[in-house]
Amino acid sequence: MNIEKIRIEARSLLAELSLDEKISLTAGRDPWSTVPVERLNIPWIWMSDGPHGLRRAPDTTQMGYGDQLRATCFPTASALSASWDVDLMKTVGETLAEECNSQGVNILLGPGVNIKRSPLAGRNFEYLSEDPVLSGELGAAYINGLQSRGIGASLKHFAANNTETRRMHTNSAVDERTFREIYLTPFEIAVKKGKPWTVMACYNRVQGIYGTQNARLLTEILKEEWGSDALVMTDWDAIIDRVEALKAGLHLQMPGGDNPFSLKEIKKAVKREELDESVLDKLVLEILILVLKCKSCEKSPVPMDVEKHHQTARRVASQCVTLLKNENTLLPLDCSKKIKVAVLGEFAKDPRYQGNGSSEVKPTRVDSLWDILQTEYSDTVEFTYSRGYSLQEIENPLSNDEFLKAVKLAENSDAVIIAAGLPLSYESEGIDRKHLNLPESHDNLIEEVSSIQKNTIVVLSNGSAVAMPWESKVTSIVESWVLGQAGAGAIADVLFGKVNPSGKLAETFPIRLEDNPSFLNFPGEEGDCLYGERIFVGYRHYDTKKIEPLFPFGHGLSYTEFEYGSPKLSTSQLSGDEQLNVSFTVKNTGNYRGQETIQLYITDVESTLIRPEQELKGFIKIDLYRGESKKVSFIVEKRDLSYYDSLRKKWIAESGDFELRLGSSSGDIRLRQTFAYTSVDAVQIAIDEYTYISTLWKHKESRHALCRVIPDWLKQFTPAGKAVEEAVIDDFLLDQPVIKLPHFTLGEINFQGIHELVELCRKMTFTA
Ligand code: BGC
Repeated sequence: MNIEKIRIEARSLLAELSLDEKISLTAGRDPWSTVPVERLNIPWIWMSDGPHGLRRAPDTTQMGYGDQLRATCFPTASALSASWDVDLMKTVGETLAEECNSQGVNILLGPGVNIKRSPLAGRNFEYLSEDPVLSGELGAAYINGLQSRGIGASLKHFAANNTETRRMHTNSAVDERTFREIYLTPFEIAVKKGKPWTVMACYNRVQGIYGTQNARLLTEILKEEWGSDALVMTDWDAIIDRVEALKAGLHLQMPGGDNPFSLKEIKKAVKREELDESVLDKLVLEILILVLKCKSCEKSPVPMDVEKHHQTARRVASQCVTLLKNENTLLPLDCSKKIKVAVLGEFAKDPRYQGNGSSEVKPTRVDSLWDILQTEYSDTVEFTYSRGYSLQEIENPLSNDEFLKAVKLAENSDAVIIAAGLPLSYESEGIDRKHLNLPESHDNLIEEVSSIQKNTIVVLSNGSAVAMPWESKVTSIVESWVLGQAGAGAIADVLFGKVNPSGKLAETFPIRLEDNPSFLNFPGEEGDCLYGERIFVGYRHYDTKKIEPLFPFGHGLSYTEFEYGSPKLSTSQLSGDEQLNVSFTVKNTGNYRGQETIQLYITDVESTLIRPEQELKGFIKIDLYRGESKKVSFIVEKRDLSYYDSLRKKWIAESGDFELRLGSSSGDIRLRQTFAYTSVDAVQIAIDEYTYISTLWKHKESRHALCRVIPDWLKQFTPAGKAVEEAVIDDFLLDQPVIKLPHFTLGEINFQGIHELVELCRKMTFTA
């Protein structure tokens, strides 16, 4: 692809287009394609959902719900994120690109990197994590995989799209610091590291303005700050005011088709000079560039290798399965001698492998746990099955006798596997969950069986955290997420030890919903969703408030053990933009080959603002044979130490001590090291008459000025023999605004003096 040539061609095409043709290009032709201009040989391109598989309609004029072409259903984002594996994400992207190529699709609508703010959010199965760094890095890797094979990504849904309730209008009322630190960071990382060809603007309002016409988001932040050259499209039917959207930087309205209204509005606005034609031209040029870019990347379609992709999906799934609990090392099940295993729960035969809504893939096939166990593991294991609960309680209810039969079967076996979780109807685009619970029938079965069978293994399928009132009674819990069409094989391989589990939680599992930080503000009321917990999302809340979760962020067990050696820091004094290198050795000291994800958290020990107890800043997944050691290293940079200062509109790392923590989860920190950071940032502090005395006192430049104007007053706080600059003023006075100084100093400084002091301080530059 020669992008320079494409730009030149696009420019010359733009010059040939009439106003009507230009306007026509700013909306799709139909649900899935752009408008071609035959007169000038301008082709059209094909977009399709995304994200964990291709949902391609038979042709671009149909929505394709139900009659989409078959494709491989990979693990959903909820599962992929548990892999903590950027290489794996890239592989998924590359494989998806092959499928797109085989079905003539140019842009795949994914990945979604919105934060899992509440476990109840209906699309959590499509989103990656509660942590911005994990979401952003995994999202970027997926984009890189996809685009490296000539298929464009659409990073969605930009931004703060965290609830399905009133999704077309709800306002994500999020303060600027939180927005930057939590909700924008995953997009920022994905944009900077993945360079997506397109971005999809969200349905919701963000800080009061619709995502599709939010100039600050689409132009100032995405384009000007982050340097993205992505085409921005609407989410499907997310348009309100097409002219405002153009002005904000939105290129493409989707879906297109029978929709002349908004196009007429554009023409009227141009004619009335309410919209400068140059704004339209710029956007149309970028649309043309994308179309030509996609076309230049097209290859002659190669039919996809269905079996190979199914096996890739199984291999990927095996990296996502997360072992939450494993008492008495029950797992992996030992089948060196013939054992009897009861398999209960309809999910074992009818798996929950994807979520409801636009991402629904028509799979090439779906494996069930029961079939896999029968075909691959029945040599040494005798399996029996009973439903235990019904997935269709009205049409096909479970009788009491059948329930008792399931319990009896469990009692008469060496171990029992209960496949439970959230049915498809619980996790859907457009609808949020109402509670954290599994269906009562699943909980009842687990309660009953675990009270008579000590070897109870629960295998869960769900796209976000669930409550587990029976957690202490069962022996093992395997979280299999929503694992795609080949997930069953991955689960069986983990149960029997062919695969050593390495998944780790990308979200905290609370004991009860009330512990979740968004509890009081989800899904919001009267169209407003207040992000009242601010930056304290997920583990940032549990760790800071010391609320014991059911399972912490980053948690996941392995069949082997890992030992962390002591870390070596390249320096213990960091300054400005310098980097810190930390390296150490990890050793597999157990009996199986295994993979470990080492997580790097940073704590700001002394901070002016409230900050979370610890924040994830890096992670690495490594593969170790028994007894093998590997050196692991991380780089820590200024941004990793920073908070977002909304007043100064910049990232600030303050001088002082920081703690670097290395762990196997947020709740299992193995190593800690302190280092000091010295800021060289010159920062502007907004100063006026109401600034606190403490602020002026804190910075040496303004303290100096204060000492000059109120030396007599300060003397009373100054230890004998010291300069007034070393005065020790009590907190009561420090916490007063500067405007109170005439009162406290008994007129040593008057209001005119305050005014002059403020003016002087405003000209100063301070260091953070
Ligand atoms: C969803 C998007 C999806 C689009 C096209 C919308 O309802 O929010 O994620 O890509 O439909 O199906």
